[in-house]
Amino acid sequence: MKIRIAKKKFFKIFAILLTILILPVLILFLVVIGRTFTFNLNTELEQWENTTTFNPHLNQEQKERLLANFKDAIQLPTVSFSETQQNISALYEFDLLLRRVFPKVFSSNLVQHETISNYTHLFSVWGSEPDLEPYMLLAHIDVVPADEADGWDAPPFSAQELNGFIYGRGTIDNKQSVMGILQALEYLLERGYTPRRSFYIGLGHDEEVTGMQGAVNIVKLLKSRGVKLLYVLDEGLTIMDGMIDGLDGPAALIGVSEKGQATVKLSVNAAPGHSSMPPRETSIGILASAVRRQETLIFKIKMIILKLEKKRMPNLFGRGPERATFEHLAHKFGLPHRMVMANLWLFSSLLSGILEGQPDTNAFVRTTTAVTMFNSGVKINVLPPYAEAFVNFRIHSSQTVQEVLKLIESTISDKRVAVELMKGFDPLPVSSYDEHTFGYQIIKKTAKDIFPQVTVTPGICIGNTDSRHYTELSLNIYRFAPSWYKPGDSARFHGVNERIGIQNYEEIVLFYFQLIQNGDTRNLPLPHS
Ligand SMILES: *[C@@H]1O[C@H](CO)[C@@H](O)[C@H](O)[C@H]1NC(C)=O
Ligand SMILES: *[C@@H]1O[C@H](CO)[C@@H](O)[C@H](O)[C@H]1NC(C)=O
Ligand SMILES: *[C@@H]1O[C@H](CO)[C@@H](O)[C@H](O)[C@H]1NC(C)=O
Ligand SMILES: [Zn+2]
Repeated sequence: MKIRIAKKKFFKIFAILLTILILPVLILFLVVIGRTFTFNLNTELEQWENTTTFNPHLNQEQKERLLANFKDAIQLPTVSFSETQQNISALYEFDLLLRRVFPKVFSSNLVQHETISNYTHLFSVWGSEPDLEPYMLLAHIDVVPADEADGWDAPPFSAQELNGFIYGRGTIDNKQSVMGILQALEYLLERGYTPRRSFYIGLGHDEEVTGMQGAVNIVKLLKSRGVKLLYVLDEGLTIMDGMIDGLDGPAALIGVSEKGQATVKLSVNAAPGHSSMPPRETSIGILASAVRRQETLIFKIKMIILKLEKKRMPNLFGRGPERATFEHLAHKFGLPHRMVMANLWLFSSLLSGILEGQPDTNAFVRTTTAVTMFNSGVKINVLPPYAEAFVNFRIHSSQTVQEVLKLIESTISDKRVAVELMKGFDPLPVSSYDEHTFGYQIIKKTAKDIFPQVTVTPGICIGNTDSRHYTELSLNIYRFAPSWYKPGDSARFHGVNERIGIQNYEEIVLFYFQLIQNGDTRNLPLPHS
């Protein structure tokens, strides 16, 4: 009898325990599954006012003309070798080219043209409704150097056509935007277009070497005129096709911020090198001793670098806009990816762990550390009195230069090593990307108008652009140009075989053509309820 009761009790307790254990798991499971099939942060706005007076379309003559103009632009080697060395004659010829191929832009009453620091161009396009706050489009004329001997399939300033692509330095960075914006404006003006909303076009000539002459002086000038910008669109992110595992269709990433930078010098001084030794020691001894002592100094810096590289900066996934990138794409992932992206409240550490496994995605989740220079020793047989290394940090959105310096100092924690900040700037503010943000929504709508198959999502720029100088003129700065990137293409950027599809360049012209017309929208529609 007693035993039976105990058994019953046992089963009861067991059942309760089981319920306590299983119920939360069941609920968790249901929540995860429910979110997987319903989660969608990517709000669509309804009922846009139709501001498209001229449908985005190119006839054969226009296609031929825009391609010829683009090739001419690529053939001018507007190279920035360094801050003090640029190809001035190419920049001058580029100015002549713009005037020759865009006659409407340079003669229209609606457009005011100014040159700044000789080779940077500022266009002010006057709208018919001066109460509407203006926006600004940016691009840059200069390119990084390119050497055919590095393995180009076509000479880098030839603009040669191969399999439907135009090859050349500047085809994706960034003459596609320089020429695309002006070509679109030329075609709009030819058709008799007058914008409602004023806008500016800024084409810098020294972006690749900091923008201190071009972008900085445009900003000074506009500031002196009291200009405030509704939004700014510069180069930056692109359309990614087949580059995100599990994503169904291409994604257009609009850069809402840029990482910061810090270049830090680490140095160690040693007692003045004096390699003389007691006279009875052999030359081998002297040499051995010298080598050993030399290595001590270099070894010290090496150990510190190892420490910095091994003890990585913290993984900060979720503290910056990188999480939003995945959440805005979540509904376009197939299973099982979609379950993860729709439930980052639960799986955030799983995703951030995967992201930090690859150098290109690791850059999104933390401040990265790269040792780029190491100097020591002056002569084969002299003790180096000094060793130094330069480390380049790219700072995550949620940290500042000062915070990174503190982390470096605490990681090194050795008074004999001097840590010196050579130059640096904080990450750029994160521009908003919600349904009430004019700039983001106009860019998004335009991308969908021209590329109905893409999903638009906010992203973070690893590199920097001229737009970082514009923070005093606008809170809303975006970085995007609709170049298509497929796997392997990101290596072409500043690399070998930079190229753009001919059709892609036509799409870029149409994108700006439509963007300018969409900019005439007075008010954003309400979000879809
Ligand atoms: C917008 O208006 C233009 C004519 O002004 C027309 O050609 C175009 O089809 C319209 N677009 C939409 C989406 O209604
Ligand atoms: C500079 O550009 C001109 C064309 O304007 C070109 O002929 C010349 O080779 C370029 N110089 C260098 C050093 O690239
Ligand atoms: C512009 O050109 C003039 C003459 O060609 C030169 O004296 C001046 O230094 C240039 N200015 C800049 C900012 O490059
Ligand atoms: Zn660029």
